[in-house]
Amino acid sequence: MAVDLLLGLQWGDEGKGKIVDVLTKNYDIIARFQGGPNAGHTLEFDGIKHVLHTIPSGIFHKNALNIVGNGVVIDPVIFKKELDNLKKFNIDIKSKLLISRKAHLILPTHRLLDAASETAKGKAKIGSTLKGIGPTYMDKTGRNGMRVGDLEFTDWKTKYRALADKHEAMIGFYNVDIQYDLDELEAEFYAAIEELKQLTFIDSEEYLFNAQKEGKKILAEGAQGSLLDIDFGTYPYVTSSNTTAAGACTGLGVAPNKIGGVFGIFKAYTTRVGSGPFPTELFDADGETMGRVGNEFGATTGRPRRCGWLDLVALKYAVQINGVTELMMMKGDVLSGFKTLKVCTAYQYKGKEIKHLPYNIEEGNVTPVYTKMKGWDKDLTKLSKSEELPDALNAYIDFLEQELQVPIKIVSVGPDRVQTIHR
Ligand code: GDP
Ligand code: IMO
Ligand code: MG
Repeated sequence: MAVDLLLGLQWGDEGKGKIVDVLTKNYDIIARFQGGPNAGHTLEFDGIKHVLHTIPSGIFHKNALNIVGNGVVIDPVIFKKELDNLKKFNIDIKSKLLISRKAHLILPTHRLLDAASETAKGKAKIGSTLKGIGPTYMDKTGRNGMRVGDLEFTDWKTKYRALADKHEAMIGFYNVDIQYDLDELEAEFYAAIEELKQLTFIDSEEYLFNAQKEGKKILAEGAQGSLLDIDFGTYPYVTSSNTTAAGACTGLGVAPNKIGGVFGIFKAYTTRVGSGPFPTELFDADGETMGRVGNEFGATTGRPRRCGWLDLVALKYAVQINGVTELMMMKGDVLSGFKTLKVCTAYQYKGKEIKHLPYNIEEGNVTPVYTKMKGWDKDLTKLSKSEELPDALNAYIDFLEQELQVPIKIVSVGPDRVQTIHR
């Protein structure tokens, strides 16, 4: 049985949480493969809104198991808060949520290092979520990290102390003013570790291998988006993991020839939170409308998201890198009421028109070339059938399918589970 993937194709926040929740009824296992609490995945149903950071978005379904894969980085403190938020829903966490022993741990000092690095960068800061993601993945690739499996050994605190002491020295190296009380942070960390240790740790690659053999249906849930990929994103303004399809293989231990459907999810426009280039960014009333109607505020940090028109050059690139087999278009409802819509189909770069992402895409060195399309007025949020979609929206969808050469199978028209149209 093949493993399907669901990935964000832009700069994150495409609506992955919502769609994983919608699709979970078709799967036995939902497995997160990278990122950590920098993610904020929002789910809405029965009038309640949930934001998950590390826990996979299938957690509210009785039929599915949820796995936090080896490629994920876990902050026990944030994880504990997520678990606390779930307590009132009576989910059997011990049997429904399994954690890879190979997942790395975010220590309090990783968060401090993130803050010190960002402060030292000044204007050139990445705009990180300050969750310690970069420093934790640095320790992973630097072969210094602590893993969930270490907690099963009695000497884990010795390992922790050595690493935290080293981090403190490194914080000093940045020579910036970071205020903290490590004793307090450590007390909170130790308490959270005790709670984490109550959960079920597994060798997830082995578990998933056996699950496949038994014919179980598995959906891998990505975090962030392709343009934040450490290799293929808008480096250095990226996150520190592979957010693209290959990241699911390394982040879960699934062989490439076992990957089935690759579901690519994108907003009908574009948003970005944090620093870095964004060619179609709008600074006018249209951008302001998208932000307001789309309620574009970060689910993790609350920061306002930058908004702009759909960038097909970037989207095509993401479709290509991931080998997307099906597309899902989110937030079509937010564009209702625009008289004219614009879609970027090329960049003007060094006096030439190009149709790919250049190496050094930087703030201001590419100018989008737009195709204009007719907008629609109809409120989409109450629709449930594809036949009800307005003609102008169908024309928009047809145009994107033509350009991307991949079918759009889901059109999302609101944040709720039920506001989802299958085509
Ligand atoms: P994720 O990180 O990819 O899971 O996305 P986020 O949860 O960070 O951001 C997506 C936001 O858009 C959330 O607030 C969702 O509730 C909301 N959302 C998802 N799909 C739709 C949609 O089709 N229309 C509208 N208006 N909101 C949506
Ligand atoms: P989800 O899964 C949007 C951005 C940050 C920053 C950059 C690096 O909800 O789509 P990091 O903390 O990872 O070192 O920050 O990446 N970023 C996200 N933007 N959605 C996310 O996750 C993000 N996770 C990180 O804003 O620009
Ligand atoms: Mg998000």
